[in-house]
Amino acid sequence: MNSPTQPKPTSAAPLQAPKGTRDFYPEEMRIQNHLFDVWRRACLDFGFEEYEGPTFEHLELFTEKSGQEIVTQLYNFKDKGDRDIALRPEMTPTLARMVNQKGNSLKLPLKWFSLPRLFRYEKAQRGRLREFFQLNMDIIGCEGVAGEVELLSAIIEMLKAFGLTSEDFSVQVSSRRLLSEFLDGQGVLPEKKNSVYAALDKRAKIGPDAFREILSKEGLSGANIDAIEAFFKCKSLEDLKPFLPATASTGLGELERLFAYMRDLGYAGFVNLDLSVVRGLAYYTGVVFEVYDKAVGLRAVAGGGRYDNLLASLGGIPQTGVGFGMGDVVLAELLKEKGLMPTGREPLDYYLVDVAPGEDKLPKPTLLQLAQRLRADGRRVGYALSGEKFKKQMTQANDQAAKRVLFFGSDKASGENYEIKDLSSGEQRVCGFDDL
Ligand code: HAM
Repeated sequence: MNSPTQPKPTSAAPLQAPKGTRDFYPEEMRIQNHLFDVWRRACLDFGFEEYEGPTFEHLELFTEKSGQEIVTQLYNFKDKGDRDIALRPEMTPTLARMVNQKGNSLKLPLKWFSLPRLFRYEKAQRGRLREFFQLNMDIIGCEGVAGEVELLSAIIEMLKAFGLTSEDFSVQVSSRRLLSEFLDGQGVLPEKKNSVYAALDKRAKIGPDAFREILSKEGLSGANIDAIEAFFKCKSLEDLKPFLPATASTGLGELERLFAYMRDLGYAGFVNLDLSVVRGLAYYTGVVFEVYDKAVGLRAVAGGGRYDNLLASLGGIPQTGVGFGMGDVVLAELLKEKGLMPTGREPLDYYLVDVAPGEDKLPKPTLLQLAQRLRADGRRVGYALSGEKFKKQMTQANDQAAKRVLFFGSDKASGENYEIKDLSSGEQRVCGFDDL
């Protein structure tokens, strides 16, 4: 039953939000803020600076370089000036464009992070939405594997800060460079490599038969495909050596250095070699990685890698890049599964209860002045807005997670003294303003 003061709903059904989007009511917003707080703190601790770009870009920024999969997921349209525009499905092309626009004036290496809202027309399912947020951390202008070490360390430390351990997640590492060297050895032409990567990226989803079929359509022989299958079974860097060309492999050397660093930093339990990680995006050139949960079976929490040609291919000065994106949706699912999400609203320090509310249904100016003084002193303060009765005010104090109530106008306190009650212990006392 609606109370007399509540408006009645109209007969039309209320509109729903579009599929694949989310409403952030205060409860969800608290969780979102928690993710953003931990992310932002970790980025700042690692010396990264925050940046942001537009939510829409010229369509060609994404069609040129992101790779086929993301292009099929674009939200694009013609604007009123007949320009082709797309909502950003990822941040990396925008970052590359922004760096390119500044030419030589930026001091390298750049360590930048962003928390963009992204849009992809995907089938909405667990861990996949059409609008989501993604932490991006990228380093521009660092050629050696130290860039990868910095990013993997940041991922591990931030996931630990959320309360996760090496029992909960692992960073699966591979290398496009290594793969490319192996495919060279198999006589795969450079122009075929991107379709081989795309097939490899889908392999787990489509199964071995469909995988073989795609590769043979690309002109690979049965022997080539057998060698690829055998290569992917390798579990250690040592196992890989027979598959690589006799000349020194750059890809292998990079992975050896990366794993050595991770061991030295005490992160060996968090990282694994996993050749099935290829990444769906077209611009990666070197080390690639994805972060997976170990028990829940969710999609990747994060993914990234090295992209040494992207900036130049978008018309900039040749400059190396390495980075990753971590989505809010999968991370939130994982934290919920593990019971690591904050519960309850942000508490108030004081709820001011007017012990003798007036008939005019308005709070007293003197009560508002006290609230103003307390807020100016950094206290979080609430009070009844519509002259509610004492009992209703106490209910509101509890609903608003007040730690204490202050009985405004109590006959037990006078002048600059106030009677307060601690709502968790029930303890009641009188104190001066400075003790509040
Ligand atoms: P990505 O693998 O496409 O990489 O996305 C990275 C992460 O974003 C995924 O692991 C997933 O957690 C999240 N994500 C992707 N699509 C969705 C979706 N539809 N709904 C919810 N979450 C999603 C990139 O975007 C690269 N630009 C990352 C990068 C930065 N590489 C270098 N720098």
